[in-house]
Amino acid sequence: MNWLTVVFVILRTLTNPALGAPLSGAPSEPDPALAFTVQLDNLPFVNKGLVAFGLIPSNFTESTGDTLGGIGSAIALKLGSFQQRKDGGFTGTLVVQPDRGFNVDTTINYQGRQHEIDFILNPYYSSENLTFTQAQETLQLQYKKTLLYTDRRNVKTSGLDTLGVRPAEFGFPFIAVADPVMPIPNSTFSHLSMDNEGLVLNKDGTFWVSDEYGPYIYRFDSSGGLMQTIQPPEAIVPRINGVVNFTSVTGPDTGRAGNQDGGSDKSTSRFTRLLAYDISLPLVLRPVLKAEFVVPLPQNSKANTLASSEIHFVSEGILLVLSRDGNGHGDDTTKSKFKSIDLIDIRNATDIHGSKFDSPTHPIAINGTLDSSITPAAYIEFLDMINTTQLARFGLHNGTMELPEYSLFTYRLYAGDPADATLIDAKWESIALAPVGDPKFPHDFFLFTAADNDFLTTQGISLGQPYNAGIDNDNQFMVYRVTLPTK
Ligand SMILES: *[C@@H]1O[C@H](CO)[C@@H](O)[C@H](O)[C@H]1NC(C)=O
Ligand SMILES: *[C@@H]1O[C@H](CO)[C@@H](O)[C@H](O)[C@H]1NC(C)=O
Ligand SMILES: *[C@@H]1O[C@H](CO)[C@@H](O)[C@H](O)[C@H]1NC(C)=O
Ligand SMILES: *[C@@H]1O[C@H](CO)[C@@H](O)[C@H](O)[C@H]1NC(C)=O
Ligand SMILES: *[C@@H]1O[C@H](CO)[C@@H](O)[C@H](O)[C@H]1NC(C)=O
Ligand SMILES: *[C@@H]1O[C@H](CO)[C@@H](O)[C@H](O)[C@H]1NC(C)=O
Ligand SMILES: *[C@@H]1O[C@H](CO)[C@@H](O)[C@H](O)[C@H]1NC(C)=O
Ligand SMILES: *[C@@H]1O[C@H](CO)[C@@H](O)[C@H](O)[C@H]1NC(C)=O
Repeated sequence: MNWLTVVFVILRTLTNPALGAPLSGAPSEPDPALAFTVQLDNLPFVNKGLVAFGLIPSNFTESTGDTLGGIGSAIALKLGSFQQRKDGGFTGTLVVQPDRGFNVDTTINYQGRQHEIDFILNPYYSSENLTFTQAQETLQLQYKKTLLYTDRRNVKTSGLDTLGVRPAEFGFPFIAVADPVMPIPNSTFSHLSMDNEGLVLNKDGTFWVSDEYGPYIYRFDSSGGLMQTIQPPEAIVPRINGVVNFTSVTGPDTGRAGNQDGGSDKSTSRFTRLLAYDISLPLVLRPVLKAEFVVPLPQNSKANTLASSEIHFVSEGILLVLSRDGNGHGDDTTKSKFKSIDLIDIRNATDIHGSKFDSPTHPIAINGTLDSSITPAAYIEFLDMINTTQLARFGLHNGTMELPEYSLFTYRLYAGDPADATLIDAKWESIALAPVGDPKFPHDFFLFTAADNDFLTTQGISLGQPYNAGIDNDNQFMVYRVTLPTK
C-alpha cells in the first residue's frame, strides 16, 4: 500500500439533498464515544465505527445476463478512482470479484469475472440510529461493467469441480510464465477451473487473483487473459493417494483443506499459513517464496476455528485479517457470534519457508497442536462487525435464531425470526482501504467490506436459466473509519 495519502481540505459533511432530516447537521467527524482502540507496538489502532452501509439487490442482473452475486468474495479499490467531492462526500470505483457462481445444488460452468461498481460515500458519524432506508443513502452503489476471465488460448475459465489435472506446460518451472499442473473439470474439458477469493490490482492494469481449487494465485492481463500461475509449496498442493487431485468434493490426504496442518476438522484447523512471494520481476523470474508464517486463527466457545476469509497489507509486518462464523442472513442459523476484522503481527513469528514444513510429511500442527519449534504470529482482535450499537445506527441487526449444527431445518420454517434485508449477511469476505484525507488524522482510512451472498435470490438467472434459491440475500456493503498508524 502506498502510504503517501493525498491531503484534501474537508469543506463540510453531509449536504446530500437526497438525505432526509436526521442527517442534516450531522457531525463532520466520528463521535469519539463510538471509538474502540487497541494498542499494537505502543501505537493506537482505532475503530471509529461503522460510517456507511449500502446494498445491491439480490436479483440484480449484470451485463452477461447472470444474476450479480458472490461479489464480496474479493473487492479492491480501482487505482486512482477515489476522490473527495466538494460536498464532503466521496466517490470511487470498487472492483468486485465473485467466486464460482450459483452452486447450491452443484458446481456450474461459471466463467471467472470481475465487475466495476461506482459508489458515492457519504460517511455518517452520528450516534443516532438511521432507518434502514436512510442508511442506504450513505453508500450508493451503481454497477458499471464486467470483465470475463480467460484461460490459455482464449478459452473461458470454469467454476466446475475439478476432477481433472492438466499437465504442466513445457518449460515449467524454469520459464516464469509456464503453468504448473492445472485444475480442470475433466481431461476432455480443459478449461481452467477457478473458485476466486482474492484480488489485487496492479498499476500496469494486470491483477492477481487467488483461487481455492489450486489453491493457486494467478496473474491476468488487463483484458482478463491468464498470464502466469503461482503454485504453493508441496505441503499445500492437494494430493489423494500421492497424486495431485484438485477436487473440492473429496478432501485430499495432504494439502489444503484436508490439510495435514491439523486437518479439515474445525476443532483442529486453527493454525494456518501466510505466504509471501517476491513479485518484483514476475515475467522474468517465477515469483519466489520469500517468507512463510503460521497464523493462529480465533476459536469460538467450543474451540472450533473461526476461519479467515480475507487479509490485507497494512504496514511492514502488520496485516488486517477478517475472521468469522458463517451465521447470519443466508444461513440457517441467523445469530452470528463472531465476525471481526483483526490485526496480525508477523514480526516475531518464525519464518518456516524452505524448511521441512514445506513438505507434506512434516505437518506444522498434528491434530491441531502447533509444532513447538514454531512461534506463530500475534493475533489481535480489533473491529467487531456485529456490534449491536453500531449495526442499529444503520437500521441493521444481528440474528436471534440459533439452530443446532445437526439441524436439517431451513430458515423457511422460522418466519418469526427477522431474517429480512436488515439482518446482517452471513459471509463477509473482503477488505479494501481508501485514505480519508483528513489532515487532522493522516492515518485514517475508510475500510470497505462486502458480503458473498452466495447468489441467493428468488429471482435468479444462472447461465441463462432462471432459478429460485428460496431467499433474497442482498449484496451488502459496509464501510468503517479506522486509524491504522505507522511509525
Ligand atoms: C459496541 O460499540 C459501542 C460503541 O462503539 C461500544 O461502546 C461497545 O463497547 C461495543 N461493544 C462491544 C461488545 O464491542
Ligand atoms: C427485483 O425485485 C424487485 C422487487 O420484487 C423488482 O421491483 C425488480 O424489478 C426486480 N429486478 C430484477 C432485475 O428482476
Ligand atoms: C480425483 O479424485 C476424484 C474423487 O476421488 C476422482 O473421481 C478423480 O478421478 C480424481 N482425479 C484424478 C486426476 O486423479
Ligand atoms: C467433462 O466435462 C464436461 C463439462 O462439464 C462434460 O460435458 C463432459 O461430459 C465431461 N466428460 C467426462 C468424460 O466426464
Ligand atoms: C447477536 O445478536 C444477538 C441478538 O440480536 C445479540 O444479543 C448478541 O449480542 C449478538 N452477538 C454478538 C456477539 O454481538
Ligand atoms: C518480539 O519479542 C520480543 C521479545 O519477547 C519483545 O520484546 C517484542 O516486543 C516483540 N515484538 C513484537 C513486534 O511483537
Ligand atoms: C491424532 O488423532 C487421532 C484421532 O484421535 C489419533 O488416532 C492419532 O494417533 C493422533 N496422531 C498423533 C500423531 O497424535
Ligand atoms: C438505537 O437502536 C438500539 C438497538 O435497537 C437501541 O438500543 C438504542 O436505544 C437506539 N438508540 C437511540 C438513540 O434511539
